[in-house]
Amino acid sequence: MKRHKRHPETEAVRGGTDLAKKNGPLVTPIYQTSTFEVTDNDQQVRATSTDMFYTRYGNPTNSVAESAIAELEGADAALLFSSGMNAITTGILALVKSGDHIVAQEDIYGGVTKFLTSWLPKLGVETTFVETANYDQHARAIRPNTKLLYVESPTNPTLKIVDLRKVSALAKQHGLITAIDSTFATPINQRPFEFGIDLVMHSGTKYFAGHSDLICGVVAGRKDLIETIHSTRTTLGGNMDPHAAWLLLRGIKTLAVRVQRQNESALRIAEYLAQNRKVKRVYYPFAEGHPQRALAMETMQGGGGVLTFEIDGSHEDARQLSESLNLFTLAPSLGGVDSLVSIPVLTSHAMISAEHRRKMGVTDQMIRLSVGIENVDDLIADLEQALAGVRSQEHVQVG
Ligand SMILES: Cc1ncc(COP(=O)(O)O)c(C=O)c1O
Repeated sequence: MKRHKRHPETEAVRGGTDLAKKNGPLVTPIYQTSTFEVTDNDQQVRATSTDMFYTRYGNPTNSVAESAIAELEGADAALLFSSGMNAITTGILALVKSGDHIVAQEDIYGGVTKFLTSWLPKLGVETTFVETANYDQHARAIRPNTKLLYVESPTNPTLKIVDLRKVSALAKQHGLITAIDSTFATPINQRPFEFGIDLVMHSGTKYFAGHSDLICGVVAGRKDLIETIHSTRTTLGGNMDPHAAWLLLRGIKTLAVRVQRQNESALRIAEYLAQNRKVKRVYYPFAEGHPQRALAMETMQGGGGVLTFEIDGSHEDARQLSESLNLFTLAPSLGGVDSLVSIPVLTSHAMISAEHRRKMGVTDQMIRLSVGIENVDDLIADLEQALAGVRSQEHVQVG
């Protein structure tokens, strides 16, 4: 884990750029090229291991974004991928071999659950799913052939917080690699390397890009692990397109200010919803009453822009409410400047079995909000008018 050289707001804007350079463009150019010209074959051989050989291997625009992310995370290095799923699957495939075993928490992203349950067994890699906050169960699940401990925090959509200190201590005791999907936290709210985690993965599509206009993934971590994953990325071919990487870089410059604003607005909205009698339960890590609020406040800078609530009513009521919002657009995804609303059982968790959803605590009445950067009073007014259309009433519970 590396210390921040500067504050995150500064690193987000200036990270990865060469502050000493003169007479060059302020903004990183897009190297929109698939290949790089050389003068002779000696130079060709030297170029092979650089980011100016062939864009599937690397690209200078991508390198700037990769070093900005590595600085923000406090990692040795980072790699970009064409999607979050590509980052996670390539990262895992690079580290496991046939006969290995993975321990994964049951609250992880549905696409990753599908990869672990439907794809990896074809290659002879088995996964045991454990309850997210039950660390004794994690310990019991570890076998002699366990290679990887895979977690996600905060979790989607119930916003559980993982105690990364416990996870990394357990992994170190058993010689396991730890990987976290830190999409919901971002390095502005949590830097998992500070807690001893080996690899940090993101759907960069969300907060890093920040404008709901591109798809990308990130893996950051220790140099040796990143070298292995780089080699697998080259083989599987998942590098990100340089034009999209340039858009990503532009997004990263405002990451810190966006996330700080989203933290503040989401907390205000969680507090508003908690006192509305038509809301049964609110899930937000920094809200009063969240069972892991103390852990969240100790280990995170903010609760993030996503919050979930359960309507006191039926699935139909949840659908109706989500459709009667004006400022929260009905769409999957999260982390962008535009506020979004979605029903987890119809979107992010539609691909998971009802039984698995029940274990995760995902209900039919749940509504997930991704809070953008609009004025929070306008967002609350929108929720107020939509909730006014819901009839039933009960007492609220936060957690
Ligand atoms: C927590 C989390 N991880 C991973 C992914 C996958 O990322 P992508 O859609 O960029 O492939 C998502 C997407 O919704 C996500 O929410």
